[in-house]
Amino acid sequence: MNIQDYLKQQQERIDQFLDQVVPPGHILAKTLYESMRYSLLGGGKRIRPILTLAAAEAIGSKNNGVLPYAAALELIHTYSLVHDDLPAMDNDDYRRGRPTNHKVYGDGLAILSGDALLTMAFELCSQPASESPIPAERQIQIISEVALGAGHDGMVGGQVMDIQAENQDIDLLTLQTIHNYKTGKLIRSAVRVGGIWAGATSTQLERLTGYAEDIGLAFQIADDVLNMTGTREELGKDAGTDAKRGKKTYPSFYGIDGARELAAECISRALRRLEDFDEQAEPLRALANYVIQRRN
Ligand code: IPE
Ligand code: IPE
Ligand code: MG
Ligand code: MG
Repeated sequence: MNIQDYLKQQQERIDQFLDQVVPPGHILAKTLYESMRYSLLGGGKRIRPILTLAAAEAIGSKNNGVLPYAAALELIHTYSLVHDDLPAMDNDDYRRGRPTNHKVYGDGLAILSGDALLTMAFELCSQPASESPIPAERQIQIISEVALGAGHDGMVGGQVMDIQAENQDIDLLTLQTIHNYKTGKLIRSAVRVGGIWAGATSTQLERLTGYAEDIGLAFQIADDVLNMTGTREELGKDAGTDAKRGKKTYPSFYGIDGARELAAECISRALRRLEDFDEQAEPLRALANYVIQRRN
């Protein structure tokens, strides 16, 4: 399959849905919606929601019923980026090819639109299905999965470790833990949500989880490498920022080539986890390769 065509097609599906869920204006807080839409609809690879769709497909379901859950993952991811870029965190000026949210709307609005995106994710997950309803227990399992991946024992926990590790002489295990939490956990939830939604067996879900953990680590290693090798034009965000902020990364331990090799090993492992899956898992396999081949 052609991964670029696949990504484009799935990105359009997600973008269309996202455009509908966040309305362009609201009399009470017009700027809030503007700011939410600015970050949400201004580009982004949509890897997490696409993973949700691809995981559902691997289990045998390709219909649109999973879209609200996939979109919820993108809403949470976008909120995490808006907050990650704030002066109190990474203090970044560019994201997805344009000035960061707080540069345009100010810190207060950036914090609040992040909050609104996060809450909206749970609104989407908890709504009655308009298409392909699933049993209520499964819907609750999905909501809990999303909450765990996003929160204290997930992405937020990782972000805390990440800022506390700035200018610290952390060891490799600590770095791996930070990566697994700040980036891996949400990716893990994205894949599991697709699997759960489509009714994966416990063995299938276990394999999908292993796949997700492997590609999650590879994804952040690739981000570390791109931070050193990419340009603002390619990345849509400033390069070289990790070193500037005293962040240790995989290349600080292994060099750029060593880090790339490690990421490639994670991907081989991820692919082995899918050995028992049929051709419906092709998108998941292609996505695994894309994670380390991407240029942004
Ligand atoms: C960037 O995520 C932040 C990380 C967790 C590494 P992405 O590389 O998925 O960013 P977008 O969504 O495409 O902008
Ligand atoms: C982002 O990590 C992880 C999040 C949870 C947002 P980074 O801070 O390393 O990612 P970029 O380089 O800003 O996208
Ligand atoms: Mg950060
Ligand atoms: Mg950052």
